[in-house]
Amino acid sequence: MCGIVGYIGSKNAQDYLLSGLKRLEYRGYDSAGIVTLNGRPSLLRAKGKVAKLSEMIASHKTSDKVGIGHTRWATHGEPSEANAHPHRAGDIYLVHNGIIENYKQLKQELTEHQFDSQTDSEVLAALINSFYNNKTKLEDAVTQALQLVDGTYGIAVVSDREQDKVVVARQGSPLLIGVGDDETLIASDASALIGHTSEAIYLNDGELAVCTADSVELRDLASQPLSAKVEKIEVDMQAIQKQGYDHFLLKEIMEQPQTLANTLKGRVKADQHHAQLGGLNMTDDELREVRHVVIIGCGTALYAGQLAAYYLERLVDDVTIEVQIASEYRYRSFNLPENSVALVVSQSGETADTLACLREIKNRGARVLGVINAVGSTIAREVDGGVYVHAGPEISVASTKAFTSQVAAMTIFGLQLARAKGASLMELDKYIDELEALPGEIKALLEKITPEVEQAANKFTDYNDALYIGRDTLFPVALEGALKLKEISYIHAEGYAMGELKHGPIALVDDSFFEVALIQDNWLFDKSISGVQEVNARGGHILVVTNSTEPIEAEMVIRLDSKLDVLLPMLFNVVLQLFAYYVAVSRGTDVDQPRNLAKSVTVE
Ligand code: G6P
Repeated sequence: MCGIVGYIGSKNAQDYLLSGLKRLEYRGYDSAGIVTLNGRPSLLRAKGKVAKLSEMIASHKTSDKVGIGHTRWATHGEPSEANAHPHRAGDIYLVHNGIIENYKQLKQELTEHQFDSQTDSEVLAALINSFYNNKTKLEDAVTQALQLVDGTYGIAVVSDREQDKVVVARQGSPLLIGVGDDETLIASDASALIGHTSEAIYLNDGELAVCTADSVELRDLASQPLSAKVEKIEVDMQAIQKQGYDHFLLKEIMEQPQTLANTLKGRVKADQHHAQLGGLNMTDDELREVRHVVIIGCGTALYAGQLAAYYLERLVDDVTIEVQIASEYRYRSFNLPENSVALVVSQSGETADTLACLREIKNRGARVLGVINAVGSTIAREVDGGVYVHAGPEISVASTKAFTSQVAAMTIFGLQLARAKGASLMELDKYIDELEALPGEIKALLEKITPEVEQAANKFTDYNDALYIGRDTLFPVALEGALKLKEISYIHAEGYAMGELKHGPIALVDDSFFEVALIQDNWLFDKSISGVQEVNARGGHILVVTNSTEPIEAEMVIRLDSKLDVLLPMLFNVVLQLFAYYVAVSRGTDVDQPRNLAKSVTVE
């Protein structure tokens, strides 16, 4: 949600700012802007994607060596040039990620500033400027202003009057300071820094830094100096490139055999009946005591939690498992029984609602474990322990490979919990064997089934509405499949428990509507077939995805051929990812950056 970059050093600032914004564009893409300083400030802002800004920069090249930039996902005020960042007040320019909650109140008092935008961010710029006189240093004006602010922010500020520094601060929105050779680079996400430096300082909440070309001075909002810890960035260049694919989404679907193997590496060894996570920070005795697990997430991470919950329930029978939507749970007066553990699931590790839930649960004294992809992210830093899923950077806004890795990681957690509670190796082996086989099974599936899924996508691309239905472990897969389709193709799609079909959604069946029925060849097969027949009988259009070889009456049947049983739903999910992708491609939507969405939702 919004990307921030900043530069001060010996090279051309525009070059880094632009390349950084391109890398961060997946975080927000309704407008973008930069300002660089040298003599006269050069402020360039454009509505739309970074490509628009890039054209503008091409005809306004500067050789300035300091500047800041921003790519926006609108919260206050529509996408427009005036609402794009950087915002100016007097001599200062500011880029901001987050929300200033008391901006209306602050604005009323800033009568001397002529507001050009509807944003809360411009209010912050004006507030800083109100403290910025000839005797004040930029960092002190920023500090004074931030003391009056309620809300969340990651900011970078420059001043025409003090062109030798960039001031940054953080409260709730991520910010990194890359330490380079005679240059200091600022980014809201490590991907912008790749190729420039592999060392960075991760700012914590309540910290402010004064960056020059060769120094970073860290302090808190009481202006007390803090020591900065320089950390290694562990993302490589390959991982953030398309590598020949048309879209990041397709690349990320196709690389799942490898990214999942990375999740399992060292954690699952079938020949040793071994499944263990290293970073839980819990002893076997502590695991034995666990009686309640609550899994929390948003979007795809939530659905990964819903699928994993079925597995956890089956693996441990003296533990109650519940799954909760982060944005709801955080405001509920929930009671966590003693011996509860929360699993917070997040690809980005920055989602505001998930983070707020984590803090709320910690406040109430329960242990919180993270299931996180982005290394060094805020959630990862605040949990008591947990697991990095190691799926690598996910650039496409719609999440795919993270889902697969999250479910796998939570299943390993379930295995570890079960083992600590005395489950026999025999009982657990089925899951361990299937986990180990899963990367190969996904690889074989992708090689074999892709053309057929593309064909199915072309067949169903013109419908307006879709209903995804599945039973048992295929119910969360139906939810995730429908989410993928709506996110990237804009077809209205809902996921439903198959048994609920007759309790409402069947009323929707007509010619503009199609149904995706997920049917596993197991003890629920016959019941699932009746779900298909109910729709057939009313003239509905059905795409069936199944591993059964039985004849099934439907408009099209995609058959999976796999030795998996308990983890087979993960293959169904891969088929639905591909299906959504090809529908989106055939409808000509912006697959990697769908309208109105953002990758990392750092506002409530
Ligand atoms: C946004 C993204 C989704 C993602 C969700 C949770 O809505 O568009 O793809 O699933 O946030 O994100 P997280 O980073 O917490 O997994």
